[in-house]
Amino acid sequence: AKRLVVLASGGGSNLAALLAAHGDPAYGARVVGVVSDRPDAGALDLARDAGVASAVVAMKDFEDRTAWNAGVLEAVSVFQPDYVVLAGFMRILAPEVVRRFEGRMINTHPALLPSFPGAQGVRDALAHGVKVTGCTVHLVDDGVDTGPILAQVAVPVQDGDDEPTLTERIKVAERALLVETVGRVAREGLYVTGRRATIGR
Ligand code: GAR
Repeated sequence: AKRLVVLASGGGSNLAALLAAHGDPAYGARVVGVVSDRPDAGALDLARDAGVASAVVAMKDFEDRTAWNAGVLEAVSVFQPDYVVLAGFMRILAPEVVRRFEGRMINTHPALLPSFPGAQGVRDALAHGVKVTGCTVHLVDDGVDTGPILAQVAVPVQDGDDEPTLTERIKVAERALLVETVGRVAREGLYVTGRRATIGR
């Protein structure tokens, strides 16, 4: 199985979905490590409960951003990942870190990129008044949420939605999409031509 390292800052519902899938050898990938920038992240509890090793790289424990990025690179590298999955990791990694895992770092984002990148994808889509939003699983490049897209699912905005209700509806779709996409990438490989990424041959 391909080795996955998951980076997460939050509750970790996407991590939980990966952990629910990875026990099946046919899935083709397993989570070998979890790295968080927040010592209180629920994702760390999920890792512990699943018997998966974890590491914390809190910004406050490092001299500056450069040192923190080096710490993240080291924390991730010790697990020797085939793929690195950003599952609600709410910090921007330096280009040096991204390049080290070029073509092997996957992010999930709660909007239909290239619309509504950044930390508030759900809020921004709602504020714009779109009737359809969704989620995107994509490769990470030097930009913020700009890398080649691997998969997307549309989620309708309903009258009366607010940020929590829309967030929850997107997250249901997102978990399924992330698990499916990461599994396919692990089993079938990935081919990138310019901006276009294709899973399998
Ligand atoms: C997910 O919806 C993910 O797309 C989003 O944070 C949530 C984390 O949920 N990420 C971003 O907004 C990145 N800019 P989780 O902790 O329950 O997996």
